[in-house]
Amino acid sequence: MTGLRLRRLGRTHLMVTELGLGAMDTSTSSEGQATVEAAVDAGINFVDSAREYAGSEFLLGQVVRARGAKPFHIGTKTFSHNIDGSQRDVDRSLSMLGVDRIDLYQLHDISTQAAWDEARDEDTGALAGLQIAKYRGLIGHIGVSSHNLDLLPVLITSGAFDAVMLEYSAFFPQTAELIDLAARHDVGVIVMRPLGGSGRTSVMRGRIAEGYDGLLTPANLLRYVLSHPGVSTAIPGARYPSRIHDNVRVASDYTPMTDGERGAIEAEARELY
Ligand SMILES: NC(=O)c1ccc[n+]([C@@H]2O[C@H](COP(=O)([O-])OP(=O)(O)OC[C@H]3O[C@@H](n4cnc5c(N)ncnc54)[C@H](OP(=O)(O)O)[C@@H]3O)[C@@H](O)[C@H]2O)c1
Repeated sequence: MTGLRLRRLGRTHLMVTELGLGAMDTSTSSEGQATVEAAVDAGINFVDSAREYAGSEFLLGQVVRARGAKPFHIGTKTFSHNIDGSQRDVDRSLSMLGVDRIDLYQLHDISTQAAWDEARDEDTGALAGLQIAKYRGLIGHIGVSSHNLDLLPVLITSGAFDAVMLEYSAFFPQTAELIDLAARHDVGVIVMRPLGGSGRTSVMRGRIAEGYDGLLTPANLLRYVLSHPGVSTAIPGARYPSRIHDNVRVASDYTPMTDGERGAIEAEARELY
């Protein structure tokens, strides 16, 4: 077992490893199941999925069934904005994942005012559907993910959500203040795309293979995100066990970045693309 540290996921009170796993693309790899197994063996205890990520919940369900018990907290998501759709999605997720209860169920990508208006309608919206599922004990907590920097403060302070998923990285430092806002409201923060996404990581791996030895590496990008005390968990995507091993090594050993290091990696990140 590794030395992964735990952080509190806001008012869910769940204690999650500060390194989680984003399982959006994991099921697309022949090593997907081995990747999830490697995460469990390393002590990673938070895994992110979604109804929309083809095969992802099914893959996690295979690991749950193989282990005979749920080995991690699961966060998953519905794209539906209506009360029936979100409840149907909860039922499907339960059956795919092979669990009786899902720790965190999120509204997926609420990134326009129109989507939020639809989803929060007290009579017809997806949020009401998730509230019913919570009342029935099918889900533990309700969260939201969004890419809209103007809407995120509204979502964070709405009182409707125990956790928020937002993008934050040296490529995308603008959300640091929103993380502080979430911390003040005791809303847990799940960081998506902590390494800048698959396109950039692919470029970075190529540069490293050619001898680049500067600051802009996946390891330092992970360190950058974990250095923010308001982050509850960062969920790098991974399709191979080796990624898990590398990320676990970083998260077990890192020292928080200094302001100087943060400025330097942000400057390099701006240059990449
Ligand atoms: N709610 C939303 O709207 C939303 C949107 C986007 C993402 N997300 C969530 O956030 C998670 C992460 O986002 P993401 O996957 O787009 O971006 P990311 O985590 O920033 O980057 C993932 C990429 O990094 C690579 N990688 C991981 N660890 C590495 C390492 N140690 N060294 C080199 N490369 C490494 C992965 O490679 P391999 O794949 O080859 O292993 C993958 O290509 C997703 O899985 C999903 O759960 C949510």
